[in-house]
Amino acid sequence: MEMRPLHEGKLDRAQTLSNARQDTVYDTIRVTPVTRVIGVEVEGVDLTKPVSAAQIDDLGRALANHNVLFFRDQPELTPEQQISFAKRFGPLHVHPAAAKNEDHPELFVIHTHGESFVNNGADWHTDVSCDEEPPLGTMLQIHRTPSSGGDTLFANMYAAYDALSEKMKAFLCDCQALHESEHAFRDRYSDKGVTDDDMSFPTAIHPVVRTHPVSGRQALYVNETFTSTILDMEREESDALLTFLFQHMKRPEFQVRYQWRENSIAFWDNRCTQHLAMWDYWPDERYGHRVTVAGDRPFHRTN
Ligand code: SIN
Repeated sequence: MEMRPLHEGKLDRAQTLSNARQDTVYDTIRVTPVTRVIGVEVEGVDLTKPVSAAQIDDLGRALANHNVLFFRDQPELTPEQQISFAKRFGPLHVHPAAAKNEDHPELFVIHTHGESFVNNGADWHTDVSCDEEPPLGTMLQIHRTPSSGGDTLFANMYAAYDALSEKMKAFLCDCQALHESEHAFRDRYSDKGVTDDDMSFPTAIHPVVRTHPVSGRQALYVNETFTSTILDMEREESDALLTFLFQHMKRPEFQVRYQWRENSIAFWDNRCTQHLAMWDYWPDERYGHRVTVAGDRPFHRTN
């Protein structure tokens, strides 16, 4: 098969994207793209101080434009500061399975060390896509980093969708998929003191191609942690199609790989990205605080 550059035949779209980047002016923050496809470094805001409405507006637009915001050299946020900042983007989501912090159930402590046998999010996923209304976005501050490793990879699901053929896009736009979490969550947090014998875990059906409610753009919305089945297909057909899509969305040109420093923050849009947390630093410690902003029910709308 002849190899084609990612944007061949899609120059209008590529041009539009690159113009959008150039034309996007932020009055209260500075943004520097990390790759051409996903992720910007944000400067000019201290998240431990009151953040103005104008800054929230700029940050919201930057998130919509670039899908993941990275903040370097922030002070360590207290749980209250992190929660109150995240709440400016909407009510917070409480994880259905993870250990709950006594004072702040919305706070998800990310902690791995020499006794850990697993880390959180080691496979590609969109946060809690098994919920009927999965989280809109997630904000993670890593307070303590391993001596090396422990990066997080993010992939742009608009780019993954855009790179498909028109025939495949048309087919997928008509598909729904089942997202399940029993296999992912059962017994998963026992090392953090969670007893889940009496718990049941969410499942949901979502469109395979999700229309972003703010940008109106189409994004691939299946992931290998939670998506088990494409509905109304034979098992073999569904497995083969998901295998293809999971491989396709991992193409390096859709990705950014973030190397954390102490107190770096990432804030990602779950509606158009996936991520994976590298588990390559055992027995070192990695510690951080995550909060997620609640989202709405995914839908597909024809453009
Ligand atoms: C997660 O999947 O939320 C964890 C990401 C990370 O620890 O880098």
